[in-house]
Amino acid sequence: MFFTIRVIALLSLLATRVSTSVVEPFGVEHLENRADVPDNFRSPPYYPTPKGGWVPAWEEAYAKAHAVVSKMTLAEKVNLTTGTGFLMGPCVGQTGSAPRFGIPRLCLQDGPLGLRNTDHNTAFPAGISVGATFDKKLMYDRGRAMGEEFRGKGVNIHLGPSVGPLGRKPRAGRNWEGFGSDPSLQAVGAAETIKGVQSTGVIATVKHLVGNEQEMYRMTNVVQRAYSANIDDRTLHELYLWPFAEAVKAGVGAVMMAYNDVNGSASSQNSKLISGILKDELGFQGFVMTDWYAHLSGVASALAGLDMSMPGDGSIPLTGSTYWGGELSSSILNGSLPLERLNDMVTRIVAPWFKFGQDKDFPLPNFSAYTQNAEGLLYPGALFSPRGIVNRFVNVQGDHHKLARVIARESITLLKNDDDLLPLGRNWTLKVFGTDAGTNPKGINSCTDKGCNKGVLTMGWGSGSANLPYLVTPEDAIRNISKNAEFHITDRFPRNVEAGPDDVAIVFVNADSGENYISVEGNPGDRTKAELKLWHDGDELIEAAANKFSNVVVVVHTVGPITMERWINLPSVKSVLFAHLPGQEAGNSVTDILFGDFSPCGHLPYTIPKAESDYPDSVSLINQPFGQIQDTFSEGLFVDYRHFQKANITPRYHFGYGLSYTTFNFTEPAMNTVTPLSEYPPTRKPKGKAPSYPNDIPPGSEVAWPKNFNRIWRYIYPYLDDPSAIKPKPGYPYPDGYSTEPKPDPRAGGAEGGNPALWDVAFTVSIKVTNTGKKAGRAVAQLYVELPTDSAYPTPKLQLRQFEKTATLEPGQSEVLKMEITRKDVSIWDTVKQDWKAPGAGKGLKFWVGESVGDLKAVCEAGESCKLSG
Ligand SMILES: *[C@@H]1O[C@H](CO)[C@@H](O)[C@H](O)[C@H]1NC(C)=O
Ligand SMILES: *[C@@H]1O[C@H](CO)[C@@H](O)[C@H](O)[C@H]1NC(C)=O
Ligand SMILES: *[C@@H]1O[C@H](CO)[C@@H](O)[C@H](O)[C@H]1NC(C)=O
Ligand SMILES: *[C@@H]1O[C@H](CO)[C@@H](O)[C@H](O)[C@H]1NC(C)=O
Ligand SMILES: *[C@@H]1O[C@H](CO)[C@@H](O)[C@H](O)[C@H]1NC(C)=O
Ligand SMILES: *[C@@H]1O[C@H](CO)[C@@H](O)[C@H](O)[C@H]1NC(C)=O
Ligand SMILES: *[C@@H]1O[C@H](CO)[C@@H](O)[C@H](O)[C@H]1NC(C)=O
Repeated sequence: MFFTIRVIALLSLLATRVSTSVVEPFGVEHLENRADVPDNFRSPPYYPTPKGGWVPAWEEAYAKAHAVVSKMTLAEKVNLTTGTGFLMGPCVGQTGSAPRFGIPRLCLQDGPLGLRNTDHNTAFPAGISVGATFDKKLMYDRGRAMGEEFRGKGVNIHLGPSVGPLGRKPRAGRNWEGFGSDPSLQAVGAAETIKGVQSTGVIATVKHLVGNEQEMYRMTNVVQRAYSANIDDRTLHELYLWPFAEAVKAGVGAVMMAYNDVNGSASSQNSKLISGILKDELGFQGFVMTDWYAHLSGVASALAGLDMSMPGDGSIPLTGSTYWGGELSSSILNGSLPLERLNDMVTRIVAPWFKFGQDKDFPLPNFSAYTQNAEGLLYPGALFSPRGIVNRFVNVQGDHHKLARVIARESITLLKNDDDLLPLGRNWTLKVFGTDAGTNPKGINSCTDKGCNKGVLTMGWGSGSANLPYLVTPEDAIRNISKNAEFHITDRFPRNVEAGPDDVAIVFVNADSGENYISVEGNPGDRTKAELKLWHDGDELIEAAANKFSNVVVVVHTVGPITMERWINLPSVKSVLFAHLPGQEAGNSVTDILFGDFSPCGHLPYTIPKAESDYPDSVSLINQPFGQIQDTFSEGLFVDYRHFQKANITPRYHFGYGLSYTTFNFTEPAMNTVTPLSEYPPTRKPKGKAPSYPNDIPPGSEVAWPKNFNRIWRYIYPYLDDPSAIKPKPGYPYPDGYSTEPKPDPRAGGAEGGNPALWDVAFTVSIKVTNTGKKAGRAVAQLYVELPTDSAYPTPKLQLRQFEKTATLEPGQSEVLKMEITRKDVSIWDTVKQDWKAPGAGKGLKFWVGESVGDLKAVCEAGESCKLSG
């Protein structure tokens, strides 16, 4: 099933690619084709790419890697950098191996909410649900549980978390894989996930760097080049790069580049982005991979800083053609690619393998992403593949179903609760409506990569999905609790429903989106056709229920913002719950809240507008079938609530909003100055020493085909037929600005994430939260920074920079929440100095603490005092 769809998808891809007769395997022309990019956006060259291994935390791992890489042949080195080809192994991607050193083919597998395309795994709530919990510990715990599952199946490299897209475009297809439309929320979500995943020995991959803010036209093909995300330097640093910087600071082992261009240069070979920003300024020590089929050139991409090609195929998949593999071997032998670069590429891959302990007792893959049978093809993409046991059905779920339920429950966001209709009594008469309360009649995993919207929406579609091991639907869970519930699992309001005066109608509705390679009900990933409306005429279903019943509860499963103006103010629509994308425990988590076993404590990870026209035009989807799309981020820093505040537009619900069954009082705000600020951080330390190697070109015999080698046709190897014939040859057209002379240390760098002084705690703010209601519950304190007014740096009025959540507070109980604010949290990116600047050295800074960006309870002024603002 998976296989057929994939092959069809692939054939269509092939069809577009084969139609060109000119396949230039090592073209630099991709670097130069910038004709249409607006004049003020350019991606300057940045060469050479900085070597890894100069950060103390990585010293030991790099020393181990150095010892091994020093002994490697050219074939072994090339093997580790290049995928063996699409469908050439059990995982969505795998590298070649270096068996002499115990390094197996490294297995790379999706996705951000759990293991994709396998069995006996947990389908956790999606990133957007995790963001809505505003709970750092749950973010970490989910990462750790996922790490255990990936390790248990033998996955070396987990392809998550996703923080790009950031959520700039409300209709964009993959926003739900990340944590919400705010850089700090994304950053905390990513950092905690990475720490959790990597604590189990699995390497995490933060993706997609950067500007992949819509699905359509994201990929370069022969008829059209991928769109160019044109992002100015300040916006890049303060919004889109922010979560990546925190991911690097958290020690992430891998970064995946985006499909799209940035400022007219393809992300997978953009030297400014990879070498200048990621590896030099952010001090990234791991390896950089392409997104699948985003590899566009050979020598040029390696020079630009790319370390791993995934899944290894060149412009025509499944033919054995590649930009690297044997071509990379040639480019070393002919001298075009300095061996120093290849040594760094391999060291950057082997160092994380040691750092996370994969040299000791790490399982080999025991599943296949391509079949659910025990036996199958070892290389499904090969014409003649050996068969063998491919699935061992290892159960990696542990007791993670409990965590999945807790996260789903803690994410549920109560937006409206007139007359305290919720929680429901267990003996009340309930009428439940909507297919979103039920299951997919064809089976819970019947649509490839969740590419359909049938039954309760547990996740979006695409590579970020996972098989459900089971599904508890809202119908199942309500039926298990209530003896007085009647179910109408249909999207048309039934004619013959009786509505008693005390009956409560619960209407389940949803809004879906996903990845571009699948179109669902006319939506090619992005919500082109659905707009921000509910799917399946959800608005009508709610209105019909509201006409008939005087007590209506609406439960929304959604990938992101929807418009709800048609029904939100109807008097009988008393309660609205956003249940986001809950995964396998959809039903139990929602009944935990509906029947009052727990108070809701989720908060919106994005703004809900009154109308789509409330957003700036520049964040609309761009649909343009010819020429390169220029997606210019002209709204700058003003996305989501930052825009609504600037434009003075009242949204339907503010970013961060969420009610409870109890009430909280925020009192006794207090502030401490910890580290006095200067305008700019103290000068960074120079880089430490990176490992080095002799750089003589190795003998061609190192990449000759081994004797009696059992070659799989179309599999990607490092070997060449006549390598000894290849001699160093001048004339390679190096890109403009190419140099082998290391650049001076960037001022804003100095350690993983950047200058470590950026994380000096400048202030702490604390607040006492008291449960003043009648039920137990948890509150979230959100801290928004207001920078001193400075016309030189137009800045959003309020920016979330910290948050904390209380434990469960019984009525009358209180807890003091303490939030740390770093130097970076109060800085802007100075594009001239290329450094972070605290305007006015912090004078005039304000810290607002509240329950949403629209509900601020207290304010502290730096150097002055705090007061309640309610
Ligand atoms: C994009 O263009 C802007 C404006 O020219 C420039 O400041 C910035 O450094 C560029 N970013 C990248 C990644 O090329
Ligand atoms: C390169 O990797 C392949 C597996 O992809 C393996 O068969 C081969 O032995 C490796 N080559 C060397 C020199 O280790
Ligand atoms: C499969 O998983 C088990 C348990 O995680 C592990 O011991 C084994 O090494 C894995 N690989 C194979 C090929 O069985
Ligand atoms: C060296 O080999 C690479 C890989 O085949 C090729 O792209 C490059 O153009 C070659 N260099 C020269 C100077 O011919
Ligand atoms: C439901 O149960 C509560 C308490 O157990 C009781 O007071 C109430 O009358 C019951 N309501 C109905 C409709 O049976
Ligand atoms: C039904 O409810 C009971 C009691 O609350 C619980 O123990 C059981 O696990 C539930 N069953 C399902 C399928 O959720
Ligand atoms: C909440 O705090 C405010 C300010 O300290 C106080 O005036 C008010 O009485 C408190 N409310 C409750 C219900 O405790």
